[in-house]
Amino acid sequence: MDHQQLAEMAIDATKYSYAPYSAFHVGAALLAKSGQVYTGCNIESAAYPVTNCAERTALFKAVSEGERVFSAIAITASKKGVSPDYCYPCGVCRQALSEFVDDDFDVVVVKTATDYRVHRFVELLPFSFGSASMEG
Ligand code: THU
Repeated sequence: MDHQQLAEMAIDATKYSYAPYSAFHVGAALLAKSGQVYTGCNIESAAYPVTNCAERTALFKAVSEGERVFSAIAITASKKGVSPDYCYPCGVCRQALSEFVDDDFDVVVVKTATDYRVHRFVELLPFSFGSASMEG
């Protein structure tokens, strides 16, 4: 599974996005070190803050099926059928991912299957708070 294939799976996952309020359809594809890929989409609610982002949908699906170790996530967004820009994960999703990923985890932000950027997780969440932060 390379970055391009993961990007394609994220693009495909946008088709399940439930986004009647923002019309911003997000898809994610999370690669576990087992080789399994877990996809996710954003799921909105009339009570707006209840909304779940695509990245956390994918993460929670994976963890709930026994995965704990991950190597990469691809993320993409589509509005009116086009990807407006590279879609970076929100702060809540960065923190949620940080529980399970290392600094060298790849974050692939995708415009199209052939137009994407790859970042290391530590670039997106430096000086993060985690379990080690609470050790004496
Ligand atoms: N959203 C995601 O699913 N992931 C992101 O990284 C950014 C935002 C969703 C939440 C909401 O449904 C819509 O995009 C607009 O914020």
